[in-house]
Amino acid sequence: MSSRNLNLAVVGTGIFATDEHLPNIQKIDNLTPVAAYNRTRAKAEAFAEKANIDKANVYDSLEEVFSNDKIDFVDALLPVQHNLDVVKLAVQHKKPLAFEKPIAANLSQAKEIVQLARSSDVPIAVLENWSFRKATKILKEEIIPKIGDIISFTYNGTGAFDEGNKYSNTSWRVKPEHIGGYLSDGGVHQLALLTDVLGPVESISAFTKQVREQSGDVDILFSTVQLKSKAIGTFTYGSAFGATDKNSFFTIFGTNGSIVYNFSPHLAKPTITYQTGSSKQSASEKVVIEVDEVNTTFEEFTNFAAAVEANDKSLVVVTPEKAFHHLAIVDAALQSSKNNGSNVKVELP
Ligand SMILES: NC(=O)c1ccc[n+]([C@@H]2O[C@H](COP(=O)([O-])OP(=O)(O)OC[C@H]3O[C@@H](n4cnc5c(N)ncnc54)[C@H](OP(=O)(O)O)[C@@H]3O)[C@@H](O)[C@H]2O)c1
Repeated sequence: MSSRNLNLAVVGTGIFATDEHLPNIQKIDNLTPVAAYNRTRAKAEAFAEKANIDKANVYDSLEEVFSNDKIDFVDALLPVQHNLDVVKLAVQHKKPLAFEKPIAANLSQAKEIVQLARSSDVPIAVLENWSFRKATKILKEEIIPKIGDIISFTYNGTGAFDEGNKYSNTSWRVKPEHIGGYLSDGGVHQLALLTDVLGPVESISAFTKQVREQSGDVDILFSTVQLKSKAIGTFTYGSAFGATDKNSFFTIFGTNGSIVYNFSPHLAKPTITYQTGSSKQSASEKVVIEVDEVNTTFEEFTNFAAAVEANDKSLVVVTPEKAFHHLAIVDAALQSSKNNGSNVKVELP
């Protein structure tokens, strides 16, 4: 079945719009970028040139973009404290909207976004691309059912401070208005993966620390977590350390075996290793699966395009409600750390 062409506008034509969104949008046959907006107009013009957007369709305000009938949806990549404004415009103009993570700068803005999205039939998606990982599907559907009841887990995403990180000099990251700085910026991806695989988090006890002045806020997080399922585990996150390998792994322990998902970038391919059996004596041989991971940005735009084409918000995979949970976990961790590691319940929207 051929798909209807969808015209989209890109608002916030910074690094990620240029390096990641545009090349992926261009790979999807029925998506055509037709308009751009950026606070600094020259950057929107440079983006328009790359995207083959007519210069006449470089706009000077978000209002002009959202009120334009020729635009089928808006792709927003603004500093996250502006996400609430674009959601308000989307609902007001009944314009489908996909906007970048984290859902908002804080939980009160995030709650407002969830309420607005619930009040409208317009498809609204939060672009948390990690929710489109093939590994998640393999873990959930094929491997977890083999290891019995889930007892516990360790989730680790740690790495060395990267002086050459192309994102670190963006003004909104240097002086973050979003809670926990990098802990919400990148942390929501990690928490999307954890909760997509094992389900929602109920409460957390955490300690955070600021290692790098450049981070503008706390930048490492060590925590103990209880899930709604009552499984317990640890969540460790931060890339502010001295020289060390980037280690990204997720170990899951069950009554009948265990799983190690290793997606550290130094591996040629991510791997899922599992063994079954209820004890050391009954342990099976280890099985190693190499994961040919998909392009998650491509997948999230394909999903959103389908929701817009069908005008069906139920097709959206990462709804504001879902993304709220990931920011709420960061918020609870920050509160816990301020209270000397006391256990904090994760807020519901
Ligand atoms: N999914 C992922 O893996 C991933 C990775 C990276 C980024 N992102 C997300 O993508 C978004 C953009 O990040 P980025 O790294 O591309 O940052 P960026 O390069 O700073 O882009 C942000 C853009 O927003 C504009 N802007 C800044 N302040 C503004 C304001 N007050 N009002 C309106 N526009 C303003 C900037 O325009 P000026 O030129 O005027 O400064 C800039 O072009 C963020 O939401 C981020 O979380 C997601």
